[in-house]
Amino acid sequence: MFAFDPYSPAVDADPFPLYKVLRDQHPVYWSEAAQMWVLSRYIDVAGAGTNWQVFSSAQGNLMTELPNRAGATLGTTDPPRHDRLRGLVQHAFMKRNLEALAEPMRDIAREAAQALRGREQFEFIADFSSKFTVRVLFAALGLPLGDEQTVRDKAVLMVQSDPITRAKGPEHLAAYAWMQDYAAGVIAQRRAAPQNDLISHFSTAEIDGDRLDEREVLLTTTTLIMAGIESLGGFMSMLALNLADFADVRRAVAADPALLPDAVEESLRYNTSAQRFKRCLQRDLTLHGVTMKAGDFVCLAYGAANRDERQFADPDVYDLKRRPKGHLGFGGGVHGCLGSAIARMAIKIAFEEFHKVVPDYTRAAPQLDWMPSSTFRSPLRLEMTVDRAATRHAA
Ligand code: HEM
Repeated sequence: MFAFDPYSPAVDADPFPLYKVLRDQHPVYWSEAAQMWVLSRYIDVAGAGTNWQVFSSAQGNLMTELPNRAGATLGTTDPPRHDRLRGLVQHAFMKRNLEALAEPMRDIAREAAQALRGREQFEFIADFSSKFTVRVLFAALGLPLGDEQTVRDKAVLMVQSDPITRAKGPEHLAAYAWMQDYAAGVIAQRRAAPQNDLISHFSTAEIDGDRLDEREVLLTTTTLIMAGIESLGGFMSMLALNLADFADVRRAVAADPALLPDAVEESLRYNTSAQRFKRCLQRDLTLHGVTMKAGDFVCLAYGAANRDERQFADPDVYDLKRRPKGHLGFGGGVHGCLGSAIARMAIKIAFEEFHKVVPDYTRAAPQLDWMPSSTFRSPLRLEMTVDRAATRHAA
């Protein structure tokens, strides 16, 4: 009998055949393992994203939610409270002026890429992408240098879940508690001596006399650290994986960096890292002949919707020229990713600098270990072999 369990290591490794069965045969599927409905067709998932009145985020949006987060961050509130939070955080983002981050980002990317010079093999995450994402996040948020590795390790643990208990394990909860203490310390420092950084701005941001309260500041900071490091790093791995596997695409993009944004959009669709998010139904709803009840949880399977042949022709083909309009790699609707602009800019800069040093590379091993997470999908390690002839040419 067909079963879809978002906690299963087999789903982490390859969810796509199961997604096809879901879309074709069970477009409204009750997952016994996850105790929630799963929507997988593009039209349903995209529609739910805009219909926050029925599909609420206020009970949490991570498939396996972290304690105390529901109701306190922009990802876990509904309008009008959500819009107020989003306005305040966006205001802080605008003040920091993202363009001003481009040069520091390039310096960080260049330095991380230079460390790969002369290598025949490397591990993409430890040797390149995590060095980049952590330092970029520290620069954007204004976090004090010194704790980068620990912050990265905790952020990665926070998004994981235990495949056996289908819940957060003690190590995940401990990482979350650590991150909140860490964030509280930085917030206190920035309040005492504000600087030109995101945390200083949004911990004091005001619109018409309205401010974030203490819990909102703390959990929004914690979420931004998690998203900034793990969402960005996870997707960079998925893009690197596609480029390593598809030689024509890799060579085209390495030779002409202007093609990078097309590869980014196609990988967001084809190899979605933010696979599944959760909503809670506010009223009974019948879809495709199945009635879901008010109070039921619903999984929006962005990764499945992005491979829906009803929306994208030949969805299992990676097509650099596709320019997939309306893909859900950054979600959509009122909760569409707030960090998408900074993420797109960071990814472009990182891969431009990476390709200057390592223009040609392939996966060192066909088998990958995947992060155990019901929400996100990315490899834990990504060993690469460098094509030395092409690299000598680039040097
Ligand atoms: C490639 C990297 C990224 C991907 C794939 C990604 C993906 C997503 C997705 C799918 C959502 C929607 C969640 C939902 O439907 O409930 C989301 C929301 C969000 N993301 Fe990202 N994200 C990325 C990078 C970032 C970065 C770098 C930041 C911040 C620095 C960030 C901050 C946020 C926030 C604050 C929200 C909540 C927005 C709201 O509810 O209004 N993300 N992201």
